[in-house]
Amino acid sequence: MPMKHLLLLFVPILVRGYKTHVAEQPDDIPDIPSQLHDTVQELALAFSLVLQNLTNASGIIRSGDQHLDRSQITYHPGNLQVDEEFVADKAAGFYEVLHDFFHGLGDVEEAHSMAALCPHAFIPNIMACIKASSCIIQMGIPNLIDMEIYAGMLEQMIRFEEIMWPLLRDALMTEPGGGTVADDLVFPEMFACDGTVHTAGNTVLLSVDSEHAETLAVAAALHEATVASHQILDSHVLNSSMDDTIDKLQRTWHGPCQKIGCDHTNYWDIFFRHHEHSLALINVGHPALLRSDIHMRFMLQHRVQRFIGDNHRDYSFVEKYARMDQEQAYSWDVAVAYHSRNKEALQSLASMLLSSVPESRLERLVDRHKLAWAEEELLRETSVTSTAVAHNISANQMSALEVDEGEGEAGDAQWGRRRRRRRRRRFFKAIVKAVVKVVQVVAKAIGSLLACMGDFGKFAATGYTRAFTPSTAGSIGLSAGNTNFLKDILGGSTPSGWISLDMGFSVGSTSEIWWAGAGFSGSLVCDTTGACSIYVAVAILATGNAKMPVSALCPLGASIGAMDCSHCAGASMTILCCSFDLTNGNNGCR
Ligand SMILES: *[C@@H]1O[C@H](CO)[C@@H](O)[C@H](O)[C@H]1NC(C)=O
Ligand SMILES: *[C@@H]1O[C@H](CO)[C@@H](O)[C@H](O)[C@H]1NC(C)=O
Ligand SMILES: *[C@@H]1O[C@H](CO)[C@@H](O)[C@H](O)[C@H]1NC(C)=O
Ligand SMILES: *[C@@H]1O[C@H](CO)[C@@H](O)[C@H](O)[C@H]1NC(C)=O
Repeated sequence: MPMKHLLLLFVPILVRGYKTHVAEQPDDIPDIPSQLHDTVQELALAFSLVLQNLTNASGIIRSGDQHLDRSQITYHPGNLQVDEEFVADKAAGFYEVLHDFFHGLGDVEEAHSMAALCPHAFIPNIMACIKASSCIIQMGIPNLIDMEIYAGMLEQMIRFEEIMWPLLRDALMTEPGGGTVADDLVFPEMFACDGTVHTAGNTVLLSVDSEHAETLAVAAALHEATVASHQILDSHVLNSSMDDTIDKLQRTWHGPCQKIGCDHTNYWDIFFRHHEHSLALINVGHPALLRSDIHMRFMLQHRVQRFIGDNHRDYSFVEKYARMDQEQAYSWDVAVAYHSRNKEALQSLASMLLSSVPESRLERLVDRHKLAWAEEELLRETSVTSTAVAHNISANQMSALEVDEGEGEAGDAQWGRRRRRRRRRRFFKAIVKAVVKVVQVVAKAIGSLLACMGDFGKFAATGYTRAFTPSTAGSIGLSAGNTNFLKDILGGSTPSGWISLDMGFSVGSTSEIWWAGAGFSGSLVCDTTGACSIYVAVAILATGNAKMPVSALCPLGASIGAMDCSHCAGASMTILCCSFDLTNGNNGCR
């Protein structure tokens, strides 16, 4: 039974979730051996970066060989074996950290059998290994890992698991010889940390103060209303009255909304306000309940988007119930606050790791191209600085600066000034001769990757939906400019004049009524030089596109050719930065 030790290690997770607030002594330490403390923190960083990597890989593979921006992406997808290697390489750093963790457990035999569950380059197990590592990380809360970091990780993971992973797996499966990718291995139960039930029953286990009791009561109410919402949406059939369905949903949320202050008549207000409850769970230190809370909120959003797609001919659901931009200001603010706290927490973990673990350990988490880019950037910045400094020195401003500084000093200013001057000269010389250090390169690369990740946003875009391929689509509406230029762009040519667009795009799996994949929605100005591409942070999206009868953004009528005017709206969190060319659908992420 080589896995027994790990079993012992994993069981306390479930129990600890309930116990943290009962016994909140600082010495209530996690059951992670101390030699593995920094490995668990490293795993949390690798976790976020691997989701980003795999989202990028999925976009590249799903684009096929045609729609990639060749100035950025040199890889040619389409050959199963090579694609599998490509994907495996995207998870290489993450697996190394995970294996470090297993080996750090001490027992060699055990480490090997653990590592055998997550072998390098074995695609079918990737999702299961990512989930298992989230459970390892959960054990590190709160001493090694902040709840906020965990929350951000889970928000990304659920989107990846539900939207991106199936797309990636299916893309590989449909390649010649790809049948075997489908067989996901079932993981031993000990790797699981899902499954906290929200029923009021759990509160019986706890001796809690009133704040905790209230939070748990809200958890139960939200859970109940969410389950009921799924049932209502599922039972809406072809002939059902949309008004009745909306009415049932609104009545379901009336009670919970009185508890949390949401507007029961607007789905998006409920969705945004729900984040305040996640903040409360973070405050009371309840990782297991937070995990199921995030899952629950996402799955209902996903269901609502599906519903909009399935009922795309009936715009009234969007008009009367999923009313984006009509939410209460506070509901929106609290959702933004939750996500920005999570983002900041991950960034500070990364800077802490950069100063505490050898850079070679973090270097392996980042793509070589990204490291090369970071080094170039740093060298460029350094040479700009040294040129500027050299110029300023020759302008003889250095001594003025020194005198200024010296004047504030009393006593033997003369000595102090002289010493300072010498030090300052050495300092300037050091800059001019600077060689970029590896740790700076790694910091720059990771900083740039994390900057693209975890920003929360909402969107509501209307336009003519144009599918470039079954996996790439764009939606283009005219917010200002000439309709002739809109026709140009819809026809796939560069507009001959200035035009402002309401637009969206998605790379993954797209049809007119359903987009899933990496995407963005916003506005774009195409200028007379014909530049019609954007570089933005994209999110993992799944949106239902409802057909719109009339809209100023679709000035050419409800449809033009095979393109219908449609509307999609939603909320998302960014995962990476990509470019997209609206005229031809070419895309790439760096
Ligand atoms: C991300 O992908 C690169 C290869 O493109 C790889 O070297 C790196 O280790 C991956 N990062 C993680 C966290 O696995
Ligand atoms: C929908 O309504 C039509 C006429 O009202 C009826 O013929 C049809 O059987 C109904 N379909 C379903 C699925 O109930
Ligand atoms: C150089 O001097 C100019 C003006 O005196 C100043 O604005 C600039 O910041 C200086 N640059 C550096 C790198 O010191
Ligand atoms: C996406 O993958 C390509 C190809 O491997 C790579 O060049 C690029 O740096 C990656 N971008 C990100 C953000 O990982």
